[in-house]
Amino acid sequence: MSGSAPRVRRIRADEAPALRAVRLRALSDTPLAFGSTHAREAAYPAEHWHEWARDSAAGNGQATFLAIGDDPDEAVGLAFAKIDDDDPERAHLYSMWVAPEARGTGAATALLRAVVDWTTAQGAGVLRTQVTTGNEPAARLYARAGFRDTGRREPLGHSDAETALLERALAP
Ligand SMILES: CC(C)(COP(=O)(O)OP(=O)(O)OC[C@H]1O[C@@H](n2cnc3c(N)ncnc32)[C@H](O)[C@@H]1OP(=O)(O)O)[C@@H](O)C(=O)NCCC(=O)NCCS
Repeated sequence: MSGSAPRVRRIRADEAPALRAVRLRALSDTPLAFGSTHAREAAYPAEHWHEWARDSAAGNGQATFLAIGDDPDEAVGLAFAKIDDDDPERAHLYSMWVAPEARGTGAATALLRAVVDWTTAQGAGVLRTQVTTGNEPAARLYARAGFRDTGRREPLGHSDAETALLERALAP
């Protein structure tokens, strides 16, 4: 589809309901794109979503970015950035998803840009993510953004699918 690009911004601490909604929608829409499942996360208590929103709304450890379309109360895209617990030089991108009605507008590119800018600002030197092999739209997105395939493969976990580990350097 095409249209005006959703606006991307960091989540606010009080947006646990919108976070839960967009994350569960992602897991339902594209089960094989993620290492977790809708059944698992639908059962998470409210506290899980409050902590995720609160801990990634501010501070240097993690950041969640939402893509917001016409309805200001609904997220149509999600990306989660985390600085590695053991190595502050390394950052991770998780949970990238854009709603079908918002795809092809540059929303994922904008989410990725927000993640790259934020992780760079925290002083990380490398950004890693995993993509299920065969997920061509995601592979194209990451290749355009400068990610390279490390050659490492891991099982997705909840199916026979496998993931490729990708990474790109972050310039200070
Ligand atoms: C992969 C995914 C995140 C891409 O989202 P998206 O918002 O459509 O991505 P973009 O709009 O940035 O790029 C998609 C296409 O639109 C094009 N595009 C980019 N900016 C554009 C703009 N301003 N206007 C029109 N088209 C644009 C891109 O060139 C790209 O073309 P491609 O077909 O060659 O890849 C999305 O398909 C998705 O959520 N898939 C399911 C979940 C998933 O796979 N997540 C990744 C887990 S690793």
